[in-house]
Amino acid sequence: MNDRRPGLDRRAFLRLTALGVGAGAVVTLTGCGTFDSRGPIDTVGTVDFRNRLRIPPLAESTQRDGTTVFNLTAQAGRTAIVAAGETDTWGINGSMLGPTLRARRGETVQINVTNELDEATTSHWHGMHLPAAFDGGSHQTIHPGDTWSPSWTINQPAATLWYHPHPHGQTERHIYRGLGGLFILDDDDESALDLPRDYGVDDIPVIVQDKTFDDQGQLVETSRRDNGMIGNTIVVNGTAGPVLDVTAQRTRLRLLNASTARSYSFGFSDDREFAMIASDGGLLREPTRLTRLLLTPGERAEIIVEMSAGHTTTLRSYPQDLGLSSSRSRSTGATDTLDILLLQAGGSLAPSEAIPSRLATIDPLDESSAVETREFELRNDRINRESMDMNRIDDVVTVDTTEVWEVWNGHRQPHNFHVHDVQFQILSIDGRDPSPELSGWKDTVYLPPDVRLRLIMRFTEYTDPAMPYMYHCHLLWHEDRGMMGQFVVVEPGQEPGPIDSDHDH
Ligand code: C2O
Ligand code: CU
Ligand code: CU
Repeated sequence: MNDRRPGLDRRAFLRLTALGVGAGAVVTLTGCGTFDSRGPIDTVGTVDFRNRLRIPPLAESTQRDGTTVFNLTAQAGRTAIVAAGETDTWGINGSMLGPTLRARRGETVQINVTNELDEATTSHWHGMHLPAAFDGGSHQTIHPGDTWSPSWTINQPAATLWYHPHPHGQTERHIYRGLGGLFILDDDDESALDLPRDYGVDDIPVIVQDKTFDDQGQLVETSRRDNGMIGNTIVVNGTAGPVLDVTAQRTRLRLLNASTARSYSFGFSDDREFAMIASDGGLLREPTRLTRLLLTPGERAEIIVEMSAGHTTTLRSYPQDLGLSSSRSRSTGATDTLDILLLQAGGSLAPSEAIPSRLATIDPLDESSAVETREFELRNDRINRESMDMNRIDDVVTVDTTEVWEVWNGHRQPHNFHVHDVQFQILSIDGRDPSPELSGWKDTVYLPPDVRLRLIMRFTEYTDPAMPYMYHCHLLWHEDRGMMGQFVVVEPGQEPGPIDSDHDH
């Protein structure tokens, strides 16, 4: 895509790209056509679904003194993704992406993260409630050759979380190259429900990313539009043109938008309904039946799809209303239609239980108990007119208090908002109640332009006046350019700072 040559129309170009995706396709990507960055991409019918969906392995662990110990190593490698050639990628314990970590509420984990890359990185546990010093944000730098070993006790509900690098100013590139993985949490309440939970069989990780490959199969890291990199090839768990063999009547998909900038409106090619059962921070109160589900970068959802023997359907992303102008919708990829994953049901399917009608108890956080209301305006790569400064603490929160954060997007670009350490509830969106899919625990939420979201969250345990957590836009180009701030959680009356960072300046 770097080399833009005239001669092919955009459709023909897209067809070539899509065909190039299959492992056995003979088409090469030499002579890429003119890529009109303003036109919508439509890959319906052009993706060659022929590669079995790769399932990230569950991370192995050992037990030591009551602690579950995992070992992760970030490394460079080469991965066969597209036909044009092997791609230089980064991965964890492998060449691309990482194993799925899994732990239970109450379990103490230690994760030894070794950096075998030739540059510094970090490992952030997105969605996790844990001490700031183990959060893996921009301050917990892991230099090449070093190992970082955070340890904490899981104390939150069952959920689909994820982990990814967070080096200051470099997060987009590190995730785009392939670093990241799922972090599944279990608990007794979730385990007591009749839900599909056989990992890789009827409980499937679906890590969705968009990439742009050049004619050698290398990742193009420079094709940014105004909101970051919008790729034209979708990979799921690192597989292009992926096929999932469905073996049960009901399959649980753990959807993660791990793209750097693109949002997806998930649905199926036959417009079937599916049941959403969980948002970022865990199960919803009850399943909600949908035909479309918007996930912006960093967000997760668990859905259950029912299939009959012998049938197929395609997980697709449909054009979406992000509240943007039509030209910005196009440049952001919101007008694209993208085939993502072919689900192919076998001739006989294992029976599955009906989806429970009640899933979880979520006590609403009480607004009248909030001790503080903070406002955050996201605009022009800044939050409240400030660009991220590693040495500045923007907000000081007192432990064991509830706060309301009013967040809004003050200009015409798409943004979302992610808070470390906590899961929040959405009180209102421009004064209205959130829709069912936004009514559970969230750690990342879309901010349409000029719409005010009121979020409520409670900060418990883990004080550290010298080590901040972060909040930021999860469109990674924006984050890297400074749309991020820092807060510390302190004891009542405790003075914050100075920051105790491992980051080199
Ligand atoms: Cu998913 Cu601050 O990150
Ligand atoms: Cu995070
Ligand atoms: Cu943004």
